[in-house]
Amino acid sequence: MAADEPSREPAPSQGAVNRKVTTLRLQEMKQAREPISALTAYDFLTARLLDQSGIDVLLVGDSASMVFAGNDTTLPMKMDEMLYHVRVVTKAVKRALVVADMPFMSYHQGADQALHNAGVLMQDGLAEAVKLEGGVRICPIVSRIVDAGIPVMGHIGLQPQSIHTYGTYKTRGVEGAEAMRILDDAKALQDAGAFAVVVEKVPAALGKRITELLGIPTIGIGAGGDCDGQILVTPDMLGMNREFRPRFVRTYAQLGDVMTDATRRFHQDVKDRRFPNESESY
Ligand code: KIV
Repeated sequence: MAADEPSREPAPSQGAVNRKVTTLRLQEMKQAREPISALTAYDFLTARLLDQSGIDVLLVGDSASMVFAGNDTTLPMKMDEMLYHVRVVTKAVKRALVVADMPFMSYHQGADQALHNAGVLMQDGLAEAVKLEGGVRICPIVSRIVDAGIPVMGHIGLQPQSIHTYGTYKTRGVEGAEAMRILDDAKALQDAGAFAVVVEKVPAALGKRITELLGIPTIGIGAGGDCDGQILVTPDMLGMNREFRPRFVRTYAQLGDVMTDATRRFHQDVKDRRFPNESESY
């Protein structure tokens, strides 16, 4: 082919942009030091917009219990509710890797229960991986799920399903002994076969140490800029949750204000009989 002849192949960067994200691709991204972007998704239209925007990983998080269903913690989320969210998200997504969170008590009764529920999220929900909170303690369960061919993402540092044990959402791993335990958790999850690990709310220096220790990608949330990827809860990132502004959240839009303004204008147009007009009527 002549040097000036246009190639039928997509440009390398374009190919990477359009390529389906898999667990293998995330591993390649870690090796290439290409940061991994991740967000949460709970409904069809939002999941489609996030996917079309090029996000690498969409987590159907049990944070839905708080930001979708209005509960104070993630604990009330049940398997059937998670499965519903996973189904609508996987229906919308073409490119991102879809990871389903395993709800509180869906994997705590042993490996048989955990494998059954992970299988439901994959088979009925069409998720491509599952996420479990915990470290050394849950590694036998992680191995069992991984052995069945189901990719597992770990979740260490602050584990929101353990909020009643902590009694606080404060940063974890600040003092040495807990930092060591978190490092042990990270290593144990990798050894158990996890393909990636979420690291939540730990000092940036610890996020960096975990990332350097592991051969699998780390996805940080409040864990500093050295993790292999970053995840935020989408309604927080979009500024819909005006009551929740922790330091680790950057708000990229003020959707709460946009929605309130649009709703007020619609309300007033109806009251003033300015909606609908002729072109909006049959
Ligand atoms: O449930 C969730 O949204 C999560 C993220 C905070 C990582 O686990």
